[in-house]
Amino acid sequence: MRKSFGAKPFMYPMPVLIIATYDENGVPNAMNAAWGSAADINRIAIYVSAGHKTMKNILAGSDFTVSMATAATAAAADYVGIVSGNKVENKIEKCAWHCTKSEKVNAPLIDELPMALECRMVSYDTESELLIGEIVDVVADESVITDGSIDPRKLDPICYDPVNHDYLRLGEKVANAFEDGKKLI
Ligand SMILES: Cc1cc2nc3c(=O)[nH]c(=O)nc-3n(C[C@H](O)[C@H](O)[C@H](O)COP(=O)(O)O)c2cc1C
Repeated sequence: MRKSFGAKPFMYPMPVLIIATYDENGVPNAMNAAWGSAADINRIAIYVSAGHKTMKNILAGSDFTVSMATAATAAAADYVGIVSGNKVENKIEKCAWHCTKSEKVNAPLIDELPMALECRMVSYDTESELLIGEIVDVVADESVITDGSIDPRKLDPICYDPVNHDYLRLGEKVANAFEDGKKLI
């Protein structure tokens, strides 16, 4: 017997993406986005409300970086999700985060978030508020790399649980993708 929960955006897992942009004066800002996903090989799709400072910055010409929030940065990641740059200009400072300009796009990288996608807007639909970005590069700090690859155990990214409003760590590996299904062929 299944229980009905109504029409809710309940999905597991949801990412905790930190979108960082510059405003027209070069001041960095960041917001938390869980409604985001890879969309094709080199694209990302994120629902971003038009009223957010982040979207205003992007529409004014800023590119954007999308970093994975980590267990160590969970409180700051939540802060940038509940306070708007429309009202608080120095959100990044309040998080004690530091920024370095991306070499590939006109957007800040947050030093405390070791893995980021560097993106440029492809399109923004004002009706659906869906932002599509081109992923120009993926950059990760050496501290989260093992044998040349990003190591999720070192990165320690968090997920958003939309049912209980919790941030969760990733769990253990359970299978090999594109491989274990072959047992059923
Ligand atoms: C867990 C969580 C997930 C969120 N996901 C989204 C999202 O996917 N899209 C969105 O537009 N806002 C989302 N928000 C809300 C924004 O992060 C929030 O309104 C933020 O203050 C916007 O910042 P800005 O105005 O400085 O850009 C989320 C907030 C939290 C706490």
